[in-house]
Amino acid sequence: RENYLTLADGQQMPQEGFGLYKVDGQETMTAAIQHAYADGYRLFDTAQLYGNEAAVGTALKQLSLPRDELFVTTKVAEENQGYDRTIASVKDSLQKLQLDYVNLLLVHWPIERAFFETWRAFEDLKKAGLTRSIGVSNFEMIHLQYLATQAHELPVVDQVELHPLLTQKPLLKFNRDHQIVTQAWSPLGRGAVLSQDVLKQIADQHHKSPAQVILRWHLQNGVSFIPKSVHEARIAQNADIYDFTLSAGEMTRIDALNNYQRTGREPELVYEYNRQY
Ligand code: A2P
Repeated sequence: RENYLTLADGQQMPQEGFGLYKVDGQETMTAAIQHAYADGYRLFDTAQLYGNEAAVGTALKQLSLPRDELFVTTKVAEENQGYDRTIASVKDSLQKLQLDYVNLLLVHWPIERAFFETWRAFEDLKKAGLTRSIGVSNFEMIHLQYLATQAHELPVVDQVELHPLLTQKPLLKFNRDHQIVTQAWSPLGRGAVLSQDVLKQIADQHHKSPAQVILRWHLQNGVSFIPKSVHEARIAQNADIYDFTLSAGEMTRIDALNNYQRTGREPELVYEYNRQY
């Protein structure tokens, strides 16, 4: 399957990726990446915060996966924001990952003011070739607007919590209008969404599972998405979504599940920007 999105900087990113949050232990990591790669996943998404970058590096090495086929993302933790800490922590991440560069570097959470210096470091890291693309995570519109007041380059990806209970339509439109690809974390709503009757009904119609219906909904929405599972059968199932199509009516029924329900943390507000502008 060849579903790649072209980022604003010209890089190609697989639309579906494999999330590595809470994939812990070397054996589990190596097995998960091995199965995912065999099932066609090329994007692997980790973070300094996950504490598993070294395990990812070891797995990639053990499996001898071709670097130019892989798209590796990592994220700079809040405690490492600021210019010098960002540079040092990314070098440390690359060492753990046993890579010369990552494909995508994300600011993990918006920390008011600190993200300006973090972003300046990102622009320099990109120039130095330590990452191909730079983006953000958990940024709301206001954070993106505030960042844009000082950035030379805009983020090309915004990775946010996004699933049928939190459809994020206004942010999706804003990002589209600014050539930012939206990427969904917890695309399955950490499993909480899977038991919705609407999804079961639609899944039965297509002889698919509710998880596959949700991922297909993400696909047809044009966003990138990174499901996670440590179970071989689910890893395969989550990649098996390319042989059916949801109708416009089904897409709308799924959209209607939106109830603004977050499974994770709320991004903090930007007070300073509100005062100044
Ligand atoms: P597990 O790793 O035990 O398979 P999200 O990516 O939205 O955060 O959700 C991931 C959660 O959903 C994990 O707890 C994962 O558990 C579970 N999961 C992943 N794929 C499926 C699937 N196809 N069916 C049911 N649960 C799934």
